Amino acid sequence: MFPLFAVAIFSALAVLSAGQSITPLTTSQIDYFTPYTYYASTAFCDPAEVLAWHCGVNCEANPNFHPVASGGDGDVVQYWYVGYDSILDTVITAHQGTNISNLLPILTDLDIVLVPLALDAERFPGLDSSVKVHDGFKDAQARASADVLAAVQAAMSTYGSTSVTMVGHSLGAAISLIDSVYLPLHLPSGTSFKTIAYGLPRVGNQAFADYVDANLRLTHINNKEDPIPTLPPMFLGYIHPSGEVHIEDSGVWVTCPGQDNASTECIVGDVPTVFQWNEADHDGPYNGVTIQCSS
Ligand SMILES: *[C@@H]1O[C@H](CO)[C@@H](O)[C@H](O)[C@H]1NC(C)=O
Ligand SMILES: *[C@@H]1O[C@H](CO)[C@@H](O)[C@H](O)[C@H]1NC(C)=O
Repeated sequence: MFPLFAVAIFSALAVLSAGQSITPLTTSQIDYFTPYTYYASTAFCDPAEVLAWHCGVNCEANPNFHPVASGGDGDVVQYWYVGYDSILDTVITAHQGTNISNLLPILTDLDIVLVPLALDAERFPGLDSSVKVHDGFKDAQARASADVLAAVQAAMSTYGSTSVTMVGHSLGAAISLIDSVYLPLHLPSGTSFKTIAYGLPRVGNQAFADYVDANLRLTHINNKEDPIPTLPPMFLGYIHPSGEVHIEDSGVWVTCPGQDNASTECIVGDVPTVFQWNEADHDGPYNGVTIQCSS
């Protein structure tokens, strides 16, 4: 019953986003995201805690999780983990983000280069060479990708699951979005995928955004005046895929149709210049959940 209900809400949201109007989410649509918010937050905890599922409120919020693998060093390789949630009936993959003072210099560097994912033909077979992403994000995703894929395969086989949900916050959201392109190219065609990202920076170019819109189910949730989702700037050729949900100052969550919707109710219109930035909004709270390892 519960998983069907959850799928229905996600589909309803997809329909809302595809529509033409900026629409407030209902309380149950907002609450739908809460377990995934805790999963994104858990990615900031070290692998030993995650494998033991002993990480304070983040782990306690999702008591039906079965860890499968976790890795990274929190430095060169962001922490990551994979496991199975028996209530949501989905494999979860998550990547750690970074703090905003580490991320801002990466995103405001005018020398940042967009590179084709197809350069890495083994990991991205058949992808058109027009699909380009930030080279730093590409490298960050590459470092853990083989381990994450093996863990997802193990989780799907152990728990008989055909659903994979990829979550992340900040840099972790960017890595998870590239995972969302990568994993389906290596998993059985009957698998269903969805991606839920928090404080997602722009990851790639127009062809990337169009690929994501055509092939993935993405929701990216932006909190108030968080500057990170407005970077790198669009004049460098970056654009967000569709699927934005923006949390307004009032606390209302709205769906923002299209790619980088310029309405003042959405992040592009709400945070047009550096003077509107509020770096403290990056970590949330997202419906009461602040992204951090709280153990
Ligand atoms: C962010 O991370 C850097 C390097 O790991 C650290 O020096 C800095 O204190 C951190 N800043 C915050 C606000 O946590
Ligand atoms: C932004 O949302 C409005 C609805 O309020 C819609 O008419 C418009 O097409 C959207 N913009 C983009 C870029 O999709």
